[in-house]
Amino acid sequence: MRKLIDRLAEEHKLSKEEWIALIENRGEKDYLSHLARQAQKKYYGNKVFTRGLIEFTNYCKNNCYYCGIRRDNKNASRYRLRAEEILDCCKQGYELGFRTFVLQGGEDGYYTDDKLVELIGLIKNKYSDCALTLSVGEKEKDSYFRFYKAGADRYLLRHETADMEHYGKLHPPELKLSNRKDCLWNLKEIGYQVGCGFMVGSPGQTPETLAEDMMFITQLQPDMVGIGPFVPHHDTPFAGESQGSVEETLYLLSLLRLLKPNLLLPATTALGTIDREGREKGILAGANVVMPNLSPVTVRKKYELYDNKICTGDEAAECRMCLVRRMESIGYQLVIDRGDPVKI
Ligand code: SAM
Ligand code: FES
Repeated sequence: MRKLIDRLAEEHKLSKEEWIALIENRGEKDYLSHLARQAQKKYYGNKVFTRGLIEFTNYCKNNCYYCGIRRDNKNASRYRLRAEEILDCCKQGYELGFRTFVLQGGEDGYYTDDKLVELIGLIKNKYSDCALTLSVGEKEKDSYFRFYKAGADRYLLRHETADMEHYGKLHPPELKLSNRKDCLWNLKEIGYQVGCGFMVGSPGQTPETLAEDMMFITQLQPDMVGIGPFVPHHDTPFAGESQGSVEETLYLLSLLRLLKPNLLLPATTALGTIDREGREKGILAGANVVMPNLSPVTVRKKYELYDNKICTGDEAAECRMCLVRRMESIGYQLVIDRGDPVKI
């Protein structure tokens, strides 16, 4: 295992069979996380970047089997924030030191391309020193282009799994892996900083499908990769499935750090949900980003992708202070910065 890990650290790629062997075996954990931290420190020092997440709509036309805000969840209480409310979140976030805002939501037809273009313009006009990330799902290339021209800098679209059969177990037939991948390639071609990613421990995931993910990430060379444990939601078809493991998530975070040493890699809220110290452990495994919530407390509980999501009752300022303390406790510093990837 050590040899494979060393080679990954040197060459930043492995064959599919080698990925399978590493992921199946999950050996040399301490050695792997040591190398991952070395790479993280080399490029980012002890800095942790922060993004203010604004969950602006929980309406969604899709029906992903894992997701708490899927269309068929009639128990979800739906909301969408108005432009003024979103701008209020940005204002509060800016004062707290956020220099990246992430607009995330379900695929909500109310937010037409025109409305999104206007919203992007409003935010970028006021906060020109901030990066704006969109995470609003699959769109036509032309729409992505319009958002980019309007000022969006980054786009998060987890590919969820790079294995076609596995994709079919997680999504209804109308959602296609090929389209998801095309979207990512289109985003990259347009010039966005692009983030893909997947849930760890999603139903049907195997070392083979994870190896496919690693191969896809090697090919795509994204700027960001978002991974967090799958956590079941009680009102979805996957209510009875088991959640992903902390240990496996940490192992994969470290592998990703070695796969692309300058990657922007969040220690996710889902990881903090299944382990009280999940985010600290994530940073110590090689992650370098945290994404606290800036949404108004009144709607936070409603953006419930999975059960027991943390921080749904805290004000943005409390969340930020809590994270500052948590990062300090492990020797890292939350910085006021757009948090762009460093060039290698
Ligand atoms: N609609 C956008 C999209 O499709 O990319 C963004 C919103 S979507 C809810 C954001 C991410 O939440 C998904 O890519 C998925 O990986 C994650 N997610 C959804 N349900 C989850 C669950 N039960 N456990 C962990 N993560 C989940
Ligand atoms: Fe659309 Fe989850 S099913 S955001």
